[in-house]
Amino acid sequence: MKYTVFLASLDICIFCLILLSRKSSAADFLYEACVPRNCGNGPNITFPFYIEGLQESYCGYPGFHLKCGKHGYPTINSTENDYIVETISYPSRSFRVYNAAVLSNLTGRCLPQIKNTTLPIGEFQYVNVTSPYLSSNCIEQLPKDLSQYMVDCQGENRDNLDLAILDKDENLQKGLENCEKNVVAPVEVHGDKERIVVAEYEEILRRGFELNYLSSSDCSTCEREGDRCGFNTTTHSFRCFCPDRPHFRRCRPLRTVSSKLLSKKKKKKKVSYFFFVAFDLWNLIIENLN
Ligand SMILES: *[C@@H]1O[C@H](CO)[C@@H](O)[C@H](O)[C@H]1NC(C)=O
Ligand SMILES: *[C@@H]1O[C@H](CO)[C@@H](O)[C@H](O)[C@H]1NC(C)=O
Ligand SMILES: *[C@@H]1O[C@H](CO)[C@@H](O)[C@H](O)[C@H]1NC(C)=O
Ligand SMILES: *[C@@H]1O[C@H](CO)[C@@H](O)[C@H](O)[C@H]1NC(C)=O
Ligand SMILES: *[C@@H]1O[C@H](CO)[C@@H](O)[C@H](O)[C@H]1NC(C)=O
Ligand SMILES: *[C@@H]1O[C@H](CO)[C@@H](O)[C@H](O)[C@H]1NC(C)=O
Repeated sequence: MKYTVFLASLDICIFCLILLSRKSSAADFLYEACVPRNCGNGPNITFPFYIEGLQESYCGYPGFHLKCGKHGYPTINSTENDYIVETISYPSRSFRVYNAAVLSNLTGRCLPQIKNTTLPIGEFQYVNVTSPYLSSNCIEQLPKDLSQYMVDCQGENRDNLDLAILDKDENLQKGLENCEKNVVAPVEVHGDKERIVVAEYEEILRRGFELNYLSSSDCSTCEREGDRCGFNTTTHSFRCFCPDRPHFRRCRPLRTVSSKLLSKKKKKKKVSYFFFVAFDLWNLIIENLN
């Protein structure tokens, strides 16, 4: 019986040791701080983007700050409009945005409250974007050839007349002259053939558009291996935040070798543990039989 108690406690000891050995590998705080986060909705945010207030600025690249909107989506910090970041493709360095105004209710209005946009264009480039004009407060007796651009908002308690005109349209100038307020809203077109149909302007605004960004190749190795790139504004240099400490380019210089060794070690540990438990059980059975 004493033997049984001894074996059982030995088992527990080994189990505890295994747990401890796992726990003791606490990760570096920079690595922990830069864990991908999200705003509740939308994509997970990681380098080069960071969410102001949720992630530290060193988790991203200067100018790539996002903020969480009331709607629970990450948005580009732009003074005029909120642009919701719908998806981010980190490998192709592009992301898709749409104007948050399309989410709001249009009671009494035909067009969403879109303002002229100046995105922080230095860092981002538009992909296949055209800019139709959204014109509101237009005069009541519109010239006939402008009626085709009239935004249809039946059932709405409309207080003015709105138009949507493509930027290359022959009637653009006339439209601008007959409306009080004109704004330019970037939208995506799929090739030259696509014509923007006024009736679909809402859908097209919701579709949003794609932006490309540049990112330093200094981060590509770190990112590719699933680690967390960051930026030190003091030294103005990229760092790869690793579980142990920050490195320059990558966390594991000899990745293949070390990971192979690691998995072998782990396997060995597991196998020996199972042998041990099996041996214990065998002993217990023998003892009980006796
Ligand atoms: C965000 O990351 C979490 C944890 O890795 C994952 O479960 C979730 O699906 C991710 N969300 C998106 C939108 O990719
Ligand atoms: C974000 O935008 C607000 C104005 O909307 C501005 O006051 C703030 O400085 C911006 N944040 C950054 C980091 O540029
Ligand atoms: C928009 O209007 C619908 C009904 O008209 C309402 O249920 C919804 O809560 C409104 N959404 C917002 C954001 O005000
Ligand atoms: C928006 O920009 C367009 C083109 O630059 C300009 O014609 C228009 O007056 C601007 N609208 C407002 C409200 O500033
Ligand atoms: C952009 O438009 C061109 C044709 O004008 C097309 O070949 C290309 O695939 C489009 N790119 C995207 C990202 O939609
Ligand atoms: C940035 O670099 C400075 C100087 O080497 C260092 O003191 C600081 O801890 C670094 N910060 C981050 C966030 O890496």
